[in-house]
Amino acid sequence: MTPWLSSLGCQMVLWSGLSTLPLAAQVPIPPAQLAKLPPALKRPVDFKTEVYPLFKSACFKCHGPEKQKGKYRMDTREGAFKVTGDHGPAIQAGQSDKSAIILMAAGLIDEMLMPPPGGKPGESDPLTAEQIGLLRAWIDQGAQWPDGPIAEVIQPVRFDADIQKLLTASCSKCHSGPTAEGGFSVDSLERVLAGGKSYGKVVVPGDLRKSSLLTILAGKDEDIPKPEAHRMADKPLKMVEEWIRQGAK
Ligand code: HEC
Ligand code: HEC
Repeated sequence: MTPWLSSLGCQMVLWSGLSTLPLAAQVPIPPAQLAKLPPALKRPVDFKTEVYPLFKSACFKCHGPEKQKGKYRMDTREGAFKVTGDHGPAIQAGQSDKSAIILMAAGLIDEMLMPPPGGKPGESDPLTAEQIGLLRAWIDQGAQWPDGPIAEVIQPVRFDADIQKLLTASCSKCHSGPTAEGGFSVDSLERVLAGGKSYGKVVVPGDLRKSSLLTILAGKDEDIPKPEAHRMADKPLKMVEEWIRQGAK
């Protein structure tokens, strides 16, 4: 759990103890709790390249084109600005501390931490203070959302430019040259695509499910020796995933 979120923990218990009073339509958040919200970033933020991609990765699984949990849909402007049943406007332009998505992402609304905890590790991580600060800044700066569908900005990920140095840094100690463990070498794109002796191909371009490399790096392969040497942090793992999605070139 992120440190700022755990620091809220004990106060949340106190608060939820008090809130057994009959509930008004919208439970006000005590100022002392609001004061603990991660601060808005102090720079202009960009909706298309920063905010929308965060919504997409953290929220669309449940509030996107396929599912609308809580009847809330965030991939369109009309949907995202909904006034929620119990917690006021989801997004109140200019007032991030009155916007339900911020209060929920920060865990200030009882039982409504978004994304909700649970699921598999890494799948429903709470937003970081930095990410909440980004969303707050966007809302405080007016919550601009251009008309029409949002054209996605996809950064190309290439082996030479992005993946090779990452694999060299974390893997080449054991997976380089003629004595590479399991015959799997990260010395070139061809070698990575060739795979290893017992796993065979671990990268199937364009196919995240069949690419067992992702399972290994996510720490979900129970057979791989030295699991700690194979576990990759979330951010580089996402990049490897995007690289495979784009065809592993
Ligand atoms: C794993 C699924 C899941 C993810 C991911 C998720 N939510 Fe939710 N969300 C829910 C569910 C379930 C509800 C309904 C909860 C209830 O009403 O008790 C909900 C309700 C909400 C509501 C209240 C809607 C209303 O009208 O009452 C808001 C606002 C919200 N989510 C925002 C977010 C935001 C912002 C994110 C991403 C940072 C997010 N959610 C990610 C499952 C999810
Ligand atoms: C400390 C050494 C070490 C590090 C670091 C390491 N591995 Fe391994 N890896 C091993 C060992 C040992 C095996 C098992 C080899 C065998 O079965 O003979 C293995 C097996 C594998 C295999 C399966 C190969 C086969 O047998 O088909 C893959 C794929 C793999 N590692 C990928 C990676 C990647 C990617 C990284 C970097 C993120 C990495 N490893 C980091 C030691 C390491």
